[in-house]
Amino acid sequence: LPRYRVAMIGSGAWACTAVKMIAENLRSPEKAAKFVREVRMYVWEEEVDGRKLTELINETHENVKYLPGVQLGENVVACPDLIETAKDAHVLVFCSPHQFIHRMVKQLSGHVRKDAIAVSLTKGMRVRPDGPQLISEMIRKELGLDCSVLMGANIAADIARGELSEDVFDRPYFYTQLVPDVVGAEMCGTLKNIVALAAGFVEGLGYGPNTRAAIIRGGLDDMRRLAKALYPTVRRAAWGYCRLRVYCILVHFMRPALTLDATFFESCGIADLIATCTGGRNRLVAKAFVEAQQAGQPRSFEELEASLLHGQKLQGVLTSQEVQEILRRKGWELEYPLFTAVNRIICGHQPASAIVHYKEAAAAPV
Ligand code: 13P
Repeated sequence: LPRYRVAMIGSGAWACTAVKMIAENLRSPEKAAKFVREVRMYVWEEEVDGRKLTELINETHENVKYLPGVQLGENVVACPDLIETAKDAHVLVFCSPHQFIHRMVKQLSGHVRKDAIAVSLTKGMRVRPDGPQLISEMIRKELGLDCSVLMGANIAADIARGELSEDVFDRPYFYTQLVPDVVGAEMCGTLKNIVALAAGFVEGLGYGPNTRAAIIRGGLDDMRRLAKALYPTVRRAAWGYCRLRVYCILVHFMRPALTLDATFFESCGIADLIATCTGGRNRLVAKAFVEAQQAGQPRSFEELEASLLHGQKLQGVLTSQEVQEILRRKGWELEYPLFTAVNRIICGHQPASAIVHYKEAAAAPV
């Protein structure tokens, strides 16, 4: 019987956490008949303490730069060659910063198995002249592969330590749930990174939980409306509808309200939003951005990313620019005031304090 080979494209904190879970699964005797034990992981080669990172990972089974202190498993093999990593894989897991994925899929085009399936863990989008392109859409188009996504509340280091998270690649400490709305899940994962910047701004300004909650609520509202405006299929799936009909005909008239927003109540929606707004990197860097301004020593997002994230990439600022380009082109800036206010602050058109009056900030002339 053929056995399936899994490859991980990416080696940051989340990629390493995910590959650790996959490797644990593939070491289990039940999986041995179905899967090849080894998981190849594509690693962007760099020097760490004078050694190649791939060599260090293959010797110590630890990514000392991006997820120090966590054993990935002896069946994870780091590989510096993208095509070599992917070419025989039946399951391709993409987990690199979103700005790098397009270059990678172009490079992989024609070098992956035609019957492979892809799973994207990457949260972000690309803007093309004809509109947005989500990572799953890019993978489908460039590689011709079926692509699902894994989104949810997943602060990488917490999961790597084995703390409970509700999401995919089932481990005893990691629950997964199928949501039949790939685009909705991916839009949630992408857009929440902008809301997390707003949460960081209010925290940096010294506001407490009430203000942060109000910002999260406003952000969720922008997320939900924009996801549906760009992708009208978002949570129109029949799945929730069928369950509802089976359970209770009385709630039939509530069906639209219950099903059309259901994706936003999954882990990929509200749970990921709360996790990122309270413990994520976007929030951390946005908070530091405000604190530096208030201390009279302003620092750019690039500087803060370099000094606080140790080589990891911030997604929210780039996503804000991408989303704002879409809003500008469509003439929708005022309709998504929280997104627009965050972008005005990032671009220096508004002070960070404007975030608490985000509707006015979005409406102010630039
Ligand atoms: P940050 O990039 O803000 O850390 O968010 C991580 C995340 O996506 C949590 O689910």
